[in-house]
Amino acid sequence: MARLKTIEWTGKAVRLIDQTLLPGKLVYEDITNVKDMHHAIKVLKVRGAPAIGIAAAYGLYLAASDFPDDRTSSDFLAYIEKNERYLAGSRPTAVNLFWALNRVKNHAHILADSKTVPEIKVSMLEQAHAILAEDREMGKKIGEHGYELLKQHTNILTHCNAGGLATAEYGTALAPIYVGAESGTAFHVYADETRPLLQGARITAFELQHAGIAVTLLCDNSAAFLMKRGLIDAVVVGADRIAANGDTANKIGTYSVALAAKAHSIPFYVAAPSSTFDPAIASGEDIPIEERDAEEVTEGFGRRTAPQGIDVLNYAFDVTPHELIWGIITEKGALTAPLSESINTVRTS
Ligand code: MRU
Repeated sequence: MARLKTIEWTGKAVRLIDQTLLPGKLVYEDITNVKDMHHAIKVLKVRGAPAIGIAAAYGLYLAASDFPDDRTSSDFLAYIEKNERYLAGSRPTAVNLFWALNRVKNHAHILADSKTVPEIKVSMLEQAHAILAEDREMGKKIGEHGYELLKQHTNILTHCNAGGLATAEYGTALAPIYVGAESGTAFHVYADETRPLLQGARITAFELQHAGIAVTLLCDNSAAFLMKRGLIDAVVVGADRIAANGDTANKIGTYSVALAAKAHSIPFYVAAPSSTFDPAIASGEDIPIEERDAEEVTEGFGRRTAPQGIDVLNYAFDVTPHELIWGIITEKGALTAPLSESINTVRTS
């Protein structure tokens, strides 16, 4: 099956698809320094929680690679921490960003007493490679566990893009669809277009069509009506951060879909790797929610569609309360209600 390479290491640079240009142009960009990686994350050239984490891990290595080899390891660690803070400032909601940065930074700290600066740099790059490889594995496992849950259904609605283009390969919400296709089960995906940046239209529809999977594009406001008409059997979405009680932040509009699913007694699942769980946050109330520029709403993609001077509220994410979630599909298996108990088996630090 034709799957796209979202992000990879070329030996000198991080090669990623510039997702702001999809679906019109499939352009790969080589990122060679930390400043360009910060920009790529901020403007959503690379997006989706796991892919942001992978990109940031490589970004911290790119910063490290510019540090002089003959300086002390304590100077090096101070420099790494400064760059970690810089990359962490690129986007606030997806916890995978902070998780991946922390992992690479801690690795450098552990080695600081016993290794030289050049040796630590090599080891940081290996950590970034490991994060990418593990994400690929986690996606496959999420796909297998999710497929077991979803295979009794045919018509699956998803919101935003939690597919291969949001991760290293399989995706999270779309992973069961890909595993299904590999095992001969043909799902039909209904993709919400996902205003204002249209990740559903530009990215989910694109990647599913590219993989030869049946996909129908919907305006965001159609979901409840389609459910009422019996066209949707189940919903599966990704996540940017899952609090200790199971409350889940995902792309703005996810909560409305969950409410509609509840009203129609349709199963609503979240699919996410353990790196998306944030045990330090008790509930969704405390998840930082990104607010983005008004222009994304008033003149997205180049044409003004609102009066000049209009007041805009552009939250990029919302939080779905755990009560609305039937289960969370992870690489370790599917967590079911009550989520506040089953969740303890996932990420503990
Ligand atoms: O703003 P984006 O495009 O980064 O938002 C992405 C999402 O909301 C995804 O659903 C989420 O990150 C999960 S990706 C596997």
